[in-house]
Amino acid sequence: MKGLILSGGKGTRLRPLTFTQAKQLVPVANKPVLFYGIEALKQAGIKDIGIVVGDTKEEIRRAVGDGRRWGVRIVYIEQEAPLGLAHAVLIAEDFLDNEPFVMYLGDNILKSGIDSLVDEFIRKKPNSLILLTEVPNPEMFGVAELHGDRVVRLVEKPKKFISNLALVGVYMFDYLIFEAAKSIKPSGRNELEITDAIQYLVDKGYEVQPHLVTGWWKDTGKLDDILEANRLILESIKGDVKGEVDKKSKINGEVVLEGGTVVKNSVIRGPAIIGKGTKIIDSYIGPFTSIQEDCRIIKTEIEHSIVLRGSEIRDVGSRIDESLIGRDVKIFKGDCGPSVYRFMVGDQSEISIK
Ligand code: TTP
Repeated sequence: MKGLILSGGKGTRLRPLTFTQAKQLVPVANKPVLFYGIEALKQAGIKDIGIVVGDTKEEIRRAVGDGRRWGVRIVYIEQEAPLGLAHAVLIAEDFLDNEPFVMYLGDNILKSGIDSLVDEFIRKKPNSLILLTEVPNPEMFGVAELHGDRVVRLVEKPKKFISNLALVGVYMFDYLIFEAAKSIKPSGRNELEITDAIQYLVDKGYEVQPHLVTGWWKDTGKLDDILEANRLILESIKGDVKGEVDKKSKINGEVVLEGGTVVKNSVIRGPAIIGKGTKIIDSYIGPFTSIQEDCRIIKTEIEHSIVLRGSEIRDVGSRIDESLIGRDVKIFKGDCGPSVYRFMVGDQSEISIK
């Protein structure tokens, strides 16, 4: 059994962050999203993993390495352009070598992991097993229609309601998926769609079984979903204070302070995680906040947010809420002059002020 993690793509919904970094490396509770996928595969006993990479291949390779750190073997498969999930399967054919495999979208996190799914696939040996979950807005997803416990139809972002069961970003296949992916044509958005390949399996009478997800699942492809994933992961962290906290500060609830953090005259209300070397001074850090390493948060209130490494936030008048702040960003109150806003922000940034 092998694993295939998809870490190419365009990441348009996460611009401007994805102009300068891979979306699969955006940290959730200070850990890159992609690492959750690698850990889920490892936990399910899969040690041979291929990662499909695109433009951000060097950055992903640097962050992940050869997999030794997790006790798995990782190889990289280059996709010349994001031509679809089924295209990613096709270019991995040599690596997969006709073995059954799990395909895992590199920007997805599943609370319950994939152990039970892998067990079921090995036990029942269908040609494919797909993960489904009930959603309130099926028109935003690839959706499956079931008859009993068989999948009969898949539609990508259906305009008319067919079911509320959305495809979660984890799939299991045997060698027949290559025949399917070679038989389909690109969709209107010029991608080889995995839903079309699975529909091919269904139409040919091959067995495609559904598996309903019990715990939460998050596709972190958009801002709201990353913040939500951050909230869900932080909900289960255990506090661990390694940093330096002065007498005037208060740490409440589950708070992780990594080594070398300094907290002065501040309140940190967990769950929250603060990366190594970060300084929190005269500030309030509220629940569901992850701040990466080497940041400075001074005279600032912030909650339900993610701040990436090297950023400095100083003396901001209002509380910062539900925000994702990139690497080496500076947000501060200007020293003098009239009451004006001054910005230098990159393309497709989003700023909300009142
Ligand atoms: P998506 O989030 O569906 O696509 P995207 O990354 O292009 O993002 P956006 O829609 O915001 O432009 O992709 C799901 C995962 O699969 C993600 O980790 C990227 C990866 N992927 C590939 O590796 N190759 C591909 O051809 C595509 C379409 C996605």
